[in-house]
Amino acid sequence: MFSAWPYINSEPHLGTLLHLISADYYARFLKSMGNDVISISGSDEHGTPIEVEAIKQHKNPKELTDEMHKRILKILEAFSVELDNYTRTENETHKEFVRDFYLQLEKNGYIFKQKTVQLYCENDKLFLPDRLVTGKCPYCGYEKANGDQCDNCGRLLEPTLLIEPRCAICGSKPVKKETYHWFFDLPKLNKEILKYVETLDENIKSYLKSMLNEGLKPRSITRDNKWGIPAPFEGAENKTIYVWMEAVLGYLSGVIELEKKIDKNLFETFWLDPQTTSVYFIGKDNIPFHAIILPALLMASKKGYNLPKKIASTEFILFGQAKFSKSQHIGVWASDALSVADGEYWRYVILALRPERGDSSFNWQDFDKMVNSDLNDKVGNYIHRVLTFLNERFSGIVPPQESFTKEDEIFSKSMMDIQESFIKLNYELRIKDAVRKFIEAAELGNQYFSSQEPWNQIKSNKARASSIIYNAVQSIAHINFMMYPIMPKKATKLASIIKLEKIRKPEKWEVIPSGTKIERPTPLFQKIVIKY
Ligand code: MF3
Ligand code: ZN
Repeated sequence: MFSAWPYINSEPHLGTLLHLISADYYARFLKSMGNDVISISGSDEHGTPIEVEAIKQHKNPKELTDEMHKRILKILEAFSVELDNYTRTENETHKEFVRDFYLQLEKNGYIFKQKTVQLYCENDKLFLPDRLVTGKCPYCGYEKANGDQCDNCGRLLEPTLLIEPRCAICGSKPVKKETYHWFFDLPKLNKEILKYVETLDENIKSYLKSMLNEGLKPRSITRDNKWGIPAPFEGAENKTIYVWMEAVLGYLSGVIELEKKIDKNLFETFWLDPQTTSVYFIGKDNIPFHAIILPALLMASKKGYNLPKKIASTEFILFGQAKFSKSQHIGVWASDALSVADGEYWRYVILALRPERGDSSFNWQDFDKMVNSDLNDKVGNYIHRVLTFLNERFSGIVPPQESFTKEDEIFSKSMMDIQESFIKLNYELRIKDAVRKFIEAAELGNQYFSSQEPWNQIKSNKARASSIIYNAVQSIAHINFMMYPIMPKKATKLASIIKLEKIRKPEKWEVIPSGTKIERPTPLFQKIVIKY
């Protein structure tokens, strides 16, 4: 289970948190299904945006990333993201792994050195890294393409391909200058990559179509940046490895690091056993690096590493109709979000908005409805009214199932069906729809409880009231299982109230036997007032 490694030049916004929350969600879901899972990600701390930010703040890059990494750890905690290893690309295990990996690739004949012509800014006295060149995309004409990739058509680029290039620092026109760089011989793997991409989902294939039709081109691995992992090749003493070319290897080094920490054999299982399934949660702009570059690097190493099996890529979360933009103050950043509501409310909102098939749009009206109506009025109230009734009328002791009416049968069956669809949708990586099932389960519970009116039965027909409460309590255990990956802290609190030791998939209707003593509940959710 992997999530894209966020750049930590600035605080993450909802769109960045989406991948980390999705990976955490999915790892928790799989664990509650009894699977053996590990989840890995980390801070992507090299590369130009970070170097530029450090210059702006008059810090050296390491100072900046130390600070930012700490901040990210706190933010992740607030959103209940507890990956098995959330690390950083400055860790020694990673740097060592990257060095050895590229030496191996060189030995295997996939690396070559070439004289290149590179854009040089005479004003800034700097070979311009890809990200610091902008210009017109040679393929689609988009005016603001970056030197490494066009965000409009998704093609991977080289800065020299840009039409009318500009230095992103000072805006002047750069000149071409000669230097050496080391390249990854991607064309050597063209056939294998084409075959591999066929195994991926339709949306990935269509995203990559034009790129693959043109044939793969060698990709440069080295950069003239100072901040980064030193290139291990002979004669490359002043160069570093291009940030993307090392960050993707964090998926491997992160497992080795975890293995060292917990002293258990993980790498063998998760990277070499072909039975293992890997899932990557990324934004669609990350597709080329995960569906072409990473698998190609793995192939070239000839170590038999598992290629990415599922790449769960999403579109963008828009703020209203607009893309999130730091400079224009459009969007919601982590600390803004946390000042409005608890991180677990946000998990629900973000997962419910997960842009799986098209862009989705965030607005405060919907947020209000999701928190106050879905979570508070539907889920929260249902659980609270059932458990309060149990507490007041049955001294908190789960009564026996005395009668089993048609309504009970329909209710229990429908709830089990919802749980089954929740599971199935998750395995299909339709997380947004799965999360919807959780709300449907609460809606169903409310309907049952209201229509069965146990408060009217309690005097005249206590046996009937017992059965209604018995069934309602069981349904809460099923809802608890679905709540867990969405809101783990709240679900864990609920589990302790209803005396569940472990949150696991309930195999049958009865989860909480009659006779169980349940504590007096406190409300799980509160309404929040949102000004918009
Ligand atoms: N830092 C990149 C981004 O935010 C993602 C890197 S994913 C990795 O777009 F796997 F390469 F680390
Ligand atoms: Zn383009």
